[in-house]
Parts: sequence; structure tokens; C-alpha cells
Amino acid sequence: VVHLRDYRKPAWRVERIELDIDLSVREAIVRSRLTLARDPAQNEVLTLDGEGFALQSLALDGAQLGANDYTWDGRELRMPRARDGSVLESVATLDPSANSALQGLYLSGSDEHGFLVTQCEAQGFRRIAFFPDRPDVLARYTVTLRADRARFPVLLSNGNPAGAGELPDGRHWARWDDPHPKPSYLFALVAGRLESIEEPYVTAEGRAVTLRIYAEPDAIGRCGYAMEALKRAMRWDEEHYGRNYDLDVFHIVATHDFNMGAMENKGLNIFNAKYLLADPARSSDDDYRHVEAIVAHEYFHNWTGNRVTCRDWFQLSLKEGLTVFREQEFSGDMGSHALKRIEDVQLLRRAQFPEDAGPLAHPVRPPSYSAIDNFYTATVYDKGAELIRMIAGRLGRAGWRRGMDEYFRRHDGHAASIEEFLAALGEPNGADLSPYLDWYEQAGTPELRARGDYDAQSKVYTLTLKQHTAPTPGQAHKRALPIPVRLALLGHDGRPLPLRMAGETGGVAERVVELDGASRAFRFLGIEKPRVASLLRGFSAPVRLEAGYTGDDLAFALRHDGDEFNRWDASQQLARLAFDALMRGGGERETAVWADALAPLFDDASLDPALLAELVTPPDVIELTERVTPVDPLAVHAAREALENALALRVGAQAAARHEALARVERGALDGASQNRRRLLNRCLALWMRWQPEAGAEVAATRYVLAAGMTERQAALAQLVLRAAPQAHKALADFEQRYRDDAITLDKWFALQAQIPERDAVERVAALIDHPRFSLRNPNRVHALLRTFAARNLVAFHRADGAGYALMESALERLDRINPTTAARLATALKDWRRLEPDRRERMRRCLERLVAQARSPELTDILRRSLA
Ligand code: ARG
Ligand code: ZN
Repeated sequence: VVHLRDYRKPAWRVERIELDIDLSVREAIVRSRLTLARDPAQNEVLTLDGEGFALQSLALDGAQLGANDYTWDGRELRMPRARDGSVLESVATLDPSANSALQGLYLSGSDEHGFLVTQCEAQGFRRIAFFPDRPDVLARYTVTLRADRARFPVLLSNGNPAGAGELPDGRHWARWDDPHPKPSYLFALVAGRLESIEEPYVTAEGRAVTLRIYAEPDAIGRCGYAMEALKRAMRWDEEHYGRNYDLDVFHIVATHDFNMGAMENKGLNIFNAKYLLADPARSSDDDYRHVEAIVAHEYFHNWTGNRVTCRDWFQLSLKEGLTVFREQEFSGDMGSHALKRIEDVQLLRRAQFPEDAGPLAHPVRPPSYSAIDNFYTATVYDKGAELIRMIAGRLGRAGWRRGMDEYFRRHDGHAASIEEFLAALGEPNGADLSPYLDWYEQAGTPELRARGDYDAQSKVYTLTLKQHTAPTPGQAHKRALPIPVRLALLGHDGRPLPLRMAGETGGVAERVVELDGASRAFRFLGIEKPRVASLLRGFSAPVRLEAGYTGDDLAFALRHDGDEFNRWDASQQLARLAFDALMRGGGERETAVWADALAPLFDDASLDPALLAELVTPPDVIELTERVTPVDPLAVHAAREALENALALRVGAQAAARHEALARVERGALDGASQNRRRLLNRCLALWMRWQPEAGAEVAATRYVLAAGMTERQAALAQLVLRAAPQAHKALADFEQRYRDDAITLDKWFALQAQIPERDAVERVAALIDHPRFSLRNPNRVHALLRTFAARNLVAFHRADGAGYALMESALERLDRINPTTAARLATALKDWRRLEPDRRERMRRCLERLVAQARSPELTDILRRSLA
């Protein structure tokens, strides 16, 4: 276990590293030459990380070393004879084709056609060469790659090209020089038969850059959208943060075999192909949005992550939370801020809130870890982004920019900490941001209670805010956090009333108050006839709000709130009230209040179609499950179905009519307005199918065949399959046939079947594990089938006889031996066993205990242990 409090500066640094690598599928020969510098203040023996390769030779300052000159336990190399300025040369060999963990250097694809690629964050570089593999050691890299020209025509690494040429026997070489010192986790290389597309780009500062995207020959035709997105992101970072690109080339490579979404290696981003490739026939609107967002995210890391990097892995959110926030703002600018905010908060509520409420809860800056790979979490990324959003809001637009400029000025070329970040932002603004450090250090989602009292006599409206955070593992007592609450007070005509506090003249329609203790009252003066408060507008803090609204209050807000996010959230809250009542055995009145409030929206021509689609969608199953203890998964599923059915019954005719109107103009175009219409089109189809199963299924079957693009085709197929329509079987077979050779699209087929809410979906998933196109070696496929099954299929995964858990247990046991990172992520689906009703709880617990006894990898063991603790 590594503790934040044990941090010490590196005793040894590497100023330069020269890597010389001979590549082939089954063997890479890695020669490295490190120039070492010792910190004179620390009297420490040189210790380098290195594992998973075979050492051929070591030389110090030109002299070959013998077995007595060093120790290497297979993880750490210790060398007492090294001194300041020493040069360490090593030769090591490794087999990329045997690396199924996809960390370090590995083969993507087959022996015959695949290509070589790396993933070094967080600790993959140590699987390639000896190095102080920690982010606060920044070195200058020169990399020379050699390989057979026919098998590996493309040879890439970080930085600028620095020569290439022919070698005897059909081999060739290429050299790369990166002028920017970087930590080892940003190292990358790629070698193989890849094709590329290329575009020139001139930065605002006038640097000419060549942008290239590389992919396998069958995928290169689908990279154009990513290229356009990249140019938009580059321009946006220049305009909004004054940040320009800093090398002569910028390269992106797509691979189907990748543990995560993508990786920001300096000048050589490597992407999971599903977040890079896009074409109208095979990609849905969601896919397009993800590509744009992730291309931007990785590009933005060039400044927030690469130029300024993290002191240690505890500071991971320094780069991830900040970069997610930058991407969110970019995506909002490219499309709609309200829709983007709704999507981001949905993600937060579905992934981060449950994490924060369960056994894996950890602060945005964890105090310790045993497997760092397990901390690339929704908390570090998405809650981290919420913290940045609060801080940026606190500083205001100009102050935020001033603070970020100062952050780059102070820390460019260095590794920084979250304290340093807060200081750099606060000082030029005369603001003390240190109270926000508590947000970084405290796990758990605060519950914010709000009560409004109006005194008609004095015309004073008093808003009382209270906060409480439940204990989380290792943190029994919680501090009060600074919580910014953006608010308005709506009058009976729905318009915001001017808000004035003591000592102020004139009121404003919207303001932010900050709750800076356990409880506080805010008094607004001169208030005439308030109707309802609109609190936490735009989701101004990552908290659970309990405001005690009645159904009538929420229906009023749904009609009138000028904040689109809060309007949507009013619908969510109405649906939650209805769900709660259904779980208590009633719910008729509450579902009617929700459905009645939504029905008139179908006639509101001014409402954005995508917003309408979101307004008429109840919260996700995961969010609803959070509201119940102990959880009977079948009851949760049934209540959500009842909610959907009640809505469909009320608005089915309107939805059907709207569907027909939208279908008439649907041409599959990719502009924002067309995408927004399609979102509603698909939601209307879902409502129609519940309202009139037979007629609706006919329509869905037709839409499946005639679909102008993947968004509609995928949605029509999903409706047929999830609603068990008679046409489902044929459509599923057709989809498989059409896309069998396209990995990304076939994943949609696997994921959809994993969700079928029937008990025999367990057998179906088991059969799909044996499908010729399924492989535990491919993380995308594992997530599509198994993660979807565990996270989204309440009926089958939680089958009373435990068959769903057993299936997951055996898959995890096998996966642990293949790819620990992916096994550990999949295992998080079992974390909430304690919340289940007694019978299932016991079954899942036993399953976790058998697994922990079998687990080999530290990653899986860590997740299982913390889940059971
Ligand atoms: N830094 C990458 C990104 O957020 C993610 C890399 C995660 N790698 C890992 N081994 N967990 O863009
Ligand atoms: Zn990132």
C-alpha cells in the first residue's frame, strides 16, 4: 500500500533517456541508455522500476556489470555503485504477443496482421525498460525504432521525427526526438501496417503542424470525423485558454485492443478505436459525440497533464478532473450546454454517486492505494470535474482564466500537486481556495437539505440550508464543505423574483449563495408572493438535494423554470417521487402527476426536441436502485416498468403522432438539429411500443429496415429486442449478419442482448461467451457483454437461483489471468452486494469470497477486498 503522506522527492532523476528498440511480434529487444542525476540531499542507493522482461546485460559508465554489482528481484533494480552523472545501459527482451494485460508493449490484433502498441499510464513503462517509473521524473527522450519494413512500415514514437532510413535485410529504422521533458507514463510507440490521413494545421502562434491519424486499412476511411474534431479542439484551446500546440506533428492511432478510452501520450495519442472511428452508416449520434469529446479530452491533456503533470498518482485528478471539465465546456460550446450538463449529471448520478455511497468510496484525492489502476474512477474523473466547475464558478470567467494562466506560468514543465493548483488559481484573484481542498480529501456525496420560509408580513424569504455527509470507509467523521448553491425564486407567474439581501440595493434574478458550514440561513428581502425556489441551478454542486418539494411544486417548476437543467431535474424528481410511491405499493396518484405534467410538453413547439426527449425519460435503473434498501432487483425493475408504462399510457398517442412527423423528415443528417430530432424520434418510438405493442413493433421493424443511419437502426432494434417483439429474432440475426466483421458495431449487438430483461438472458449471455466473435482478451467485448449484463440487467443478473452471479464469477476467474485491469473494472459490478435482500446478499458475498481466494492479480484482489471489507 502506498500512502500520500509518504511522498518524497525522487532521490535520483533521469535527465536523458535514449531508447533503441528492435521490434518484432514475438520479441522486442530494448536497449536503453539513462543519464542519471542524484539528489545530493538524499543519500539513497539508485533504485529503478523494471518488471516483466528478460535482462540480457547491464553496463554502468561503460563497464559491463556482473551479478554482484546489482540486485533485481523482478520488480526493483538496486545498484549501489551508481553515482551522480552515471550512465546506465541495459539490454532487455520481451514478447509483445504474450502481453494480454495490455500494459506496456503489446500486440493489437493477430500475429500476422496486428500491430505493436504501448500503454504506459500509470505503470506500464517499467514493463519496457528500467526507469524511475513515477510521474515526477521528467526526462528528454530520443527513441530509435528498427523493424522489418514490410511487416512494420510505420514506426512511431513521441515528439518530432529525427531521421529514418533503410537497413540490410529489408529492415528499416526511424528516430523520434521529443524536446519536451516528460514522465515515463507519457511514452508511446506504435509499429505496424497502418494507413493514415493527414491535414495541415497552423496554430494561433503560427506554428505549422502536421496532423495525422493512423488506423488499420479497413478503418482508415472512418477517421475523418475525428480529424475535424481535433482541429476544433485545437482552436478552442487557443481561444479559451491561450494554449497552443507545441510540436511539428500530432499523431493519433486507433486500436481495438485497449483497456481504457484513450491515452494522451505526448504527440502520439492512442485511442480505443470505438472512440475514434465514426461513419454515418455505423455510428450513432452518441458515438459521434463520444468521439468529439474524447479527441478533445486527450488533446487538452497536452497542457493539463503533459506540460503540467502530476507530482504523484494521488494527484491524478489534477489532470483528469481538470481535463474532463475542459472537455465538458468545449462540448457544450460545440452543441448545447444544457444537454451536455444533463448528460454529465446523469453520468455522475449513475456512476459516481453509487461509487461514493458504497464500499469503494474514496476521495477525489485518495490518501492511499494498493493498485493505482483501480483509481481511474468516476470519482477522480467526474467528481473531480465537478470540483473544478465549482472553483471556476467561484472565480468567475475572467478570474478563472487569470488563475489558469498563472497555473501554467508557474508549473509549465513541472509536476504539480493539487495544493499548488489551488494556490496558483487563488492568489492572482486574491481568493483563498484552500477550503476546497476538503472536497478533494473527503469521500461521500453530501446531502443538502433546503427549507424555504416566507413571512408575508415582512416580505422576507428565508432559505435554510443544511449539509450532512454519511461516513465512508475509513472516514467516520465528515467536515462541512463549501457548497455553492445557484438559485432563483419563482413567482406565481413563473418569473424569477428579484433577490436582495441585507445591505444591498436592487435585486438580481439569479444568484449564488455559498453554504460554508453545517447549516446557514439566507434572508432575501422585499419578496412578493414567492411560489417555489429553483435551487442548485445547473447542478452547481455535486450533492444530493432534498428540498421537500411537493408534486405540485415540481410540476410548476417543470412548466416554468427558466433553467433548462432544473426543468429537466424537476421531471426527474417527479419520477423519483412516483417510483418511491410505487415501491411502497401505491404510486397511482404520483405517476399521474408526473405524466400529466409531461403531456402538455408535446405541444410546446418552442421546446428543443432533444430536451423534450430527456424530459420524458425517467431516471436510469441504477439511480432508482440507489433509493432502495434492501434491494429486491425484481421489484425495482417492476416499479420502473410501471413508471414507463404509466407515462406511455398517458402520452402514447402524442408520442406516436410526433414519431410519424419526425420520421417524415428524418434523412440521417449529422447536424445538431437533426441529431436532436432523432433523439426525440427514438424516445417516441419507445413510448409508442409500450402504448401499442403490436402497432409499435410494426413501426420499429420498418424503421429498423429503412433506417437512414445507425442511431435509428440501433434504437429500433433495441425496442424490438427489449420489448420481446416477434420481429426481434429476425432483426437481431440481420444485425449480426450485416456487422459481423465490424468489431465496434458488433459490440452493440452483444451489449443489447446482455440487457434483455428475462431470466433466460443468463443462458443467452453464457452462449454468447462461446460465440466465435467473443473473446475475453478484448476489453471492449468484455464490457459490452459482461459489464452491461451485470450493471443493467436486474432481472437476469440477479436471478434468484444465483445463475447470473455464477456466470460472472467464472468469467472473472478466467479474466483475472488474462487482463487484471479489465477484470478489476468488471468486478466493481459486485460491490453493492451488501445492499441486496438477504438471500441474494449471501449468494453474492459467497461468490466474492470464492473469488478473493482465487484471485491472482493485485488489481482484482484490491477490488474484491475493499468490496468485502
Ligand atoms: N489518461 C488516460 C485518459 O484519461 C487514461 C489512462 C488510464 N490508464 C490506466 N491504466 N488506468 O485520458
Ligand atoms: Zn484523461
